[in-house]
Formats: sequence, structure tokens, C-alpha cells
Amino acid sequence: MSTNSHDRLLIIDFGSQVTQLIARRLRELNVYCEIHPFQKVTDAFLAAFAPKAVILSGGPASVFADGAPMPPAGVFTLGVPVLGICYGQQVMMHVLGGKVERGHGTAEFGRAYVTAKGGDLPLLEGWFADGREQVWMSHGDHVSRLAPGFEVYGTSPNAPFAITADTDRNFYAVQFHPEVHHTPKGAQLYENFVALAGFGGDWTMGAYKDEAIRRIRDQVGTSKVICGLSGGVDSSVAAVLIHEAIGDQLTCVFVDTGLMRQGEAAEVVGMFRDNYNIPLIHADESELFLGRLDGQSDPETKRKIIGGLFIDVFQKHAHAVGGAEFLAQGTLYPDVIESVSFSGGPSVTIKSHHNVGGLPEKMGLKLVEPLRELFKDEVRALGRELGLPASFVGRHPFPGPGLAIRCPGEITREKLAILRQADAVYIDQIRRHGLYDEIWQAFVAILPVKTVGVMGDGRTYDYACALRAVTSVDGMTADYYPFSHEFLGETATRIINEVPGINRVTYDVTSKPPGTIEWE
Ligand code: XMP
Repeated sequence: MSTNSHDRLLIIDFGSQVTQLIARRLRELNVYCEIHPFQKVTDAFLAAFAPKAVILSGGPASVFADGAPMPPAGVFTLGVPVLGICYGQQVMMHVLGGKVERGHGTAEFGRAYVTAKGGDLPLLEGWFADGREQVWMSHGDHVSRLAPGFEVYGTSPNAPFAITADTDRNFYAVQFHPEVHHTPKGAQLYENFVALAGFGGDWTMGAYKDEAIRRIRDQVGTSKVICGLSGGVDSSVAAVLIHEAIGDQLTCVFVDTGLMRQGEAAEVVGMFRDNYNIPLIHADESELFLGRLDGQSDPETKRKIIGGLFIDVFQKHAHAVGGAEFLAQGTLYPDVIESVSFSGGPSVTIKSHHNVGGLPEKMGLKLVEPLRELFKDEVRALGRELGLPASFVGRHPFPGPGLAIRCPGEITREKLAILRQADAVYIDQIRRHGLYDEIWQAFVAILPVKTVGVMGDGRTYDYACALRAVTSVDGMTADYYPFSHEFLGETATRIINEVPGINRVTYDVTSKPPGTIEWE
């Protein structure tokens, strides 16, 4: 649980796929909120958290199931507004004396239309101007009798109790999901909820920056801190923030693995050393990394080699700093949120993600993680607040293992050089067409296959490459970006003309799932 001093809203998670979206909608309204799994929210937890309002999320369970997830009773005696969503609504009715029935015949998934019923409700300010509102439903069970004190304010054909409220107690319960895009007026509903709960919108990046600086100073005192810079937005923002807090007590280490993009090492080192005057160790370890990767083609083996070497190298250079007690990491809020697991089983490892995991224990370091409470877009806002150049703050994410996972199969220096050039042309194309900021991530993967082509009068036998561009909110799911055929044609022509070694360009139109964003 965080200790910041803002008004706080608690989201109790019952395992909906879209719980994080509730938090995002609220943060957009400058409301500080945290998501916690229902198992953890006890009455003691509630007292310590002291929320100004509570939201009960949706979830896949049925209130009839054995051990059905429930909020602690204290939620309803805190005297603060409570909003139940989907399963959250059913739980409210179940606990407060209403009736929920199994869904036979009334399961409703997808778009539905709610019409107004009953009197005015502050929660619905701005709703129903055109008579009805589109909402997104996703439920099997349904409420068949309201708990005492509740009234209906909106109905849909399959959900007679789509919007309900007990205005005396400030309890609100809706059957649909206001947090998803398919409920166009959903953001308005959240805005109304936090307004009636008395939130003043005190969660701004300016205020957060000052507070984060104070907290870093309190935590670190006069100790030294080291920070691994990857060139990505998160570690960069963390470094600049910490530097602003403790100045030269911070030293950054940039490990050049030889797997960076064109001009990347110079750009990152230049920015930090020259513009910010942050003490920086630039460790060129490309020989080591590329040497150990030589001949390796299995994706997990490659990832493990890189992860292991990174720890060794970082440790070696960090020792040079002498006496550091803290390690700074750009951990974000989505990495911290504990997910609700009903099965209790371990999830499958799709990829062993590389970060500096393992380092703190190995080196006996304590962690400074000043971005733990932030979503990616908030990190970007904080970066702007700290004066980082817009071009840097808006950069697409770049994975720790770098170009290694964009070079499926064996990695060679020749392939890396070709890949760097092709990637630079592709990104240049995207920027020229003004598309960079619409895309979550774009890159080229060089394929482990050569194909036959004809250039001028001659035969070519060169590598094929794949262009990847996706839209995403958090990298967990993604859609391919719908470039125009003109754009794709022009880009293919440029790559083939400007990059010796490539004679065929393809566009990857796989979404995630079932694909992943990176090729390995
Ligand atoms: P995938 O390929 O798993 O990628 O769909 C999701 C997001 O994570 C990034 N990615 C990584 N980031 N270390 C990182 O720091 C890694 O090992 C790693 N692998 C993938 C990927 O670029 C995308 O943004």
C-alpha cells in the first residue's frame, strides 16, 4: 500500500479482465486510486487505507459458487460512497439483502442500450440526453430483486436493474462496464462518482513530482544510489527524478550490449551525461554479449544468456561506484498490481522477461522505485514535468534483450547491422508520415531466411524482413496498426533501395493474442 498523502479511492478486484481500466479512467480524472485483490482487503486493511470511496470490480465468479469472492463487511459501514460494477453489483445485492439469479435466458454479452428510469441521480449527470445510452454488458448471473433502499435508474432489455442506487447510503451499482470504450459515456459516470464522493482532483504530476522527490530524499538520506539506464522511458524518468532529488549521490550505468538500435547508445549517453550532467558509466560490453550469443538460436537460451550477463556486468560496474546502498528501478504500477487468481495455479511462462531482477538480492541492495504508483502515460507526463525532451518521453518501449529478440534464430553482426539500418528507415518513414505517436511500438525483425529477388538486371539472394507496428495500452494485448497500402509500398521500396542485404519486406498483421509483440 502506498503512503502518499492524496485522497484515495480503493478498487477491490474480483478478477475482471478490465479492472485496470477502472484505475486508468480514475487517474485520468486526477484521482489517486489503488487496485487490491479481494483476498487482501480485510477490515483492518480498509481502516489503514482509509478510502474516500470504494469501487467493487467485475469478475468471472458467481455469487453462488463455493467460496465466492466477497468484500469485507466493513466496506458497507465505512460511510463512504461505494460503486459496484457487474459482479460488484451482484455482490452488493447479495450481501445487502437483494437477490441474484443464475443467468439462464438472460446472459448478455456485448453492446446493449440502457434507458432512463426513475428520478434524477447525480451519478447520471450528462446521461440520457438522447434518451438512451450505449453500454457494454458482460454477465451471466443477474440481479432479480434489489436490496432494501435501492431503486432503479436505468434498464436494458436483458438487465432490468442496469443502474441502481441507494442514495441515502451513497451506494451505486451498475450491471455494465463503464470503464470500457464501448460504454461511451462511462468516463462521465466515473467523473460523476468521484465528484459526489468529494474528490478534488489533487493527483497531478506537478504535485506528484514534488512529493516523490521528498519521499526519495527521506528514503535514501545521504546514501549512494545506482540506476541501470536502458534508454527506455521508465528508467530515464526514474533517473532524472532521482537526480533532481539527490544530485550526485546517483550514478547511472548504461550497459551497451551491442544489441541497441542505430545511434541509441550515443543518444542516451549524450542526453544524460551532456544535458543533465548525471554521473554515468558507459559500459561497452558488446564483445562480451555478442561473443556469448554466438551460435545460439533458441529464444529462451538467448534471453537467459542476456539476462545473466546483464546482472554480472551491471554488478561489476556498480562496484566501481563504491558503497551504493540502493538500486533504482523504473518499476511501473501494472508490474506491481497483484492479479487475482481463482485457480491458484502458476501461470505459464511465455517469455522470461529481462530486467534487473535478481540484482538487489545478489548485491544486497535496497530498492528505490519512484514510479511504482504510475501507469505508463503518467510516467510520460512526469517526464514532461521534469523537462525531458518530448521526443524522448514519447519514445516507443524497447525491450531489455534489444535487437536479439528481433533477430529470430542465430544472431550475427552482419544481421544486426542490416537490421539497424532497416529499422532506422522504417522509423523514419513512420515519423515522416506523422504516425509515430499513434503507434505503441514499431520495429523491424530480420528473418532467418534468404530469398531470391531481382534488382536491375541482376539476381539477388538476401534476407527477408518483417515490419511490425502495433497499437496497445499496456503491451498486454495489441492490434496490428492498419497502415495504408501506399505507406507499406513506399516503405518496402525505401528499405530495399537503401538497405543492402534485404530484398523482401513483409508486414506482420498478427494481433496479441495469439501472437506476441516481439518475434521471440
Ligand atoms: P511481448 O513480445 O511479450 O512484449 O508481447 C510485450 C512488451 O514487452 C516488451 N518486452 C520486453 N521488455 N524486457 C523488457 O524490458 C523483455 O525481456 C521484454 N520482452 C518483451 C516488448 O517490447 C513489448 O513492449
